[in-house]
Amino acid sequence: MQNFEWSKLPFGYFKTDYNVRCFYRNGQWGEIEISSSETINIHMAATCLHYGQEAFEGMKAYRGKDGRVRLFRSEENAKRMQKSAEGIMMAKPPLDLFHKMVVKAVKLNDKYVPPHGTGASLYIRPLLIGTGVQVGVNPAKEYMLVIFVAPVGPYFKEGFNPVSIQIARDYDRAAPQGTGSIKVGGNYAGSLQPSERAKAEGFASVLFLDAKENKYIDEAGPANFFGIKGNKYITPESTSILPSITNKSIMQLAKDEGLEVEQRKVPVEELEEFEEVGACGTAAIITPIKKIVDRKTGKAYEFCKDGKAGPISTKLYKKLQAIQFGDEPDPHGWVSFVE
Ligand SMILES: Cc1ncc(COP(=O)(O)O)c(C=O)c1O
Repeated sequence: MQNFEWSKLPFGYFKTDYNVRCFYRNGQWGEIEISSSETINIHMAATCLHYGQEAFEGMKAYRGKDGRVRLFRSEENAKRMQKSAEGIMMAKPPLDLFHKMVVKAVKLNDKYVPPHGTGASLYIRPLLIGTGVQVGVNPAKEYMLVIFVAPVGPYFKEGFNPVSIQIARDYDRAAPQGTGSIKVGGNYAGSLQPSERAKAEGFASVLFLDAKENKYIDEAGPANFFGIKGNKYITPESTSILPSITNKSIMQLAKDEGLEVEQRKVPVEELEEFEEVGACGTAAIITPIKKIVDRKTGKAYEFCKDGKAGPISTKLYKKLQAIQFGDEPDPHGWVSFVE
């Protein structure tokens, strides 16, 4: 991979050499298998195809200046995948199996972990599907966990440059007592229409409101939302948002920086009072937001009037990335090594 233009990588699929797989059959998980095939062969009556028994994770491996490859809070992803599995009645991958598979997938594809300083990283996509056969609506008896990887650049092509997003009041991402708080494919299927429409209308993403009252901010597409007001980092609390590992980490970093952290309902009108707003997640890292337009009312909320990310978002972004890439100490023990 010499002479490869790592810093120009988009966020997308990229063929690597290997993926790892493990099957759950007869009530137990089998051995980890290594594959170089990009396809999987499953029964046409598999529950993942009919009844949405599918959950996934998104995490990254980062190469430090020292050449060592780091994972960031990977145990949190393993635990979240267990919650997702529980939520839609799938077999739960044990934490150590998940960890071994992640390490194996990264190690086998070491040449695809981007060099330090390119801004790129290796995205890791664990995928859990019901492969057992059912025609009535029932959970499968067999499951498959696949982990593949792909070197990636920023999720939003703007990178750390501010983006515009659109409030879509005519779509809900997830129901208050539904599956919004777990990472299952169905949530994303439901977000495609408003998200494609937003892109066609010139926005990077959609800002979803709570489905019950349509009053409070839920999520910024595939990322959590935050706002800065004075000395406060404010982020929505809701039963239908995905608990972001990045957001949880940024909340801690914000506290470390002496900010007050509030996790609570955030009414849309409060957007008027924020000095900085942003989206955060593994893929989005911290993506500053410059403009939020309410599609229904036409009302626009503007930020970053000088065209640049605000000082607090910038500070948190730099701190988070410095820990992830091993450029600064890791005071909370979030980083582990792939060795
Ligand atoms: C809907 C949604 N919200 C938030 C996030 C961010 O979560 P994390 O920081 O754990 O990647 C993601 C991405 O995983 C997501 O898909």
